[in-house]
Amino acid sequence: MASDQVIGSLVGVGLGPGDPELLTLKAAKAIRCARVIAYPAPDVGDSFARSIASQFIPEDAVELPIIIPMLAQHFPANEVYDQAQRKIEKHLDQGTDVIVLCQGDPLFYGSFMYLLIRVSKAYPVKVIPGVTSLTACAAAATLPLCGRTESLTVLTGTSEDSLLEPRLSQGGAFVIVKVGVHLSRLRRVLQRVGMADTAVYVSHASLPHQRVLPLADAPVDAPYFSTILVPGGNVIRGG
Ligand SMILES: C[S@@+](CC[C@H](N)C(=O)[O-])C[C@H]1O[C@@H](n2cnc3c(N)ncnc32)[C@H](O)[C@@H]1O
Repeated sequence: MASDQVIGSLVGVGLGPGDPELLTLKAAKAIRCARVIAYPAPDVGDSFARSIASQFIPEDAVELPIIIPMLAQHFPANEVYDQAQRKIEKHLDQGTDVIVLCQGDPLFYGSFMYLLIRVSKAYPVKVIPGVTSLTACAAAATLPLCGRTESLTVLTGTSEDSLLEPRLSQGGAFVIVKVGVHLSRLRRVLQRVGMADTAVYVSHASLPHQRVLPLADAPVDAPYFSTILVPGGNVIRGG
């Protein structure tokens, strides 16, 4: 890259939890004006991120799907993101911005971070925030999460019980993301710490097939897009 060359920016665009009406005006504008659009896509089936933004994608935009294999053990993460970086940087070198579509918010457990880390070494990066699953799930359940001086902790369902249990035992409000196949185990952990009765299960928040259930009634075959909310004591007691 020559020093006087105009270079493009990498732009992470948050799309919100799934309902296209939860895209911000700023996100919709960035997508409408985009010439190059990258997004994560499974090796089989459609890209969820692309489907959220589809009505705003210009017909003549160059699309760069970043193929993420469904089976984690077949996921050569570095290779996938190194390859995506090379494709993206070709456009940035020509002075064209590259928009990356990100479900929810790009910086909240978003795979956008893998591109950000790589590309920001040599190119400008911007982020347009999106509605997170955390707030979308609370809205779906019309459940205040925490109040007053209470802390809210985000945990991942993929963590070991030995990490989850001591954290939960400290009290406060919790959001557990990445629930999916871990649901039954997480339910047992929450039972052990006495939080199972107030916990709420939310899947596909904001989408037509959204489900909100007491944790006790949640399906054992929970989908990937599922989250558990545990309201804090101030909320349960009413302030
Ligand atoms: C890799 S994280 C991505 C989070 C996303 N960047 C955000 O801002 O919400 C994926 C996890 O977020 C949660 N999630 C994302 N969208 C959701 C939705 N619409 N309903 C329920 N949970 C969701 C699930 O726990 C899922 O396993």
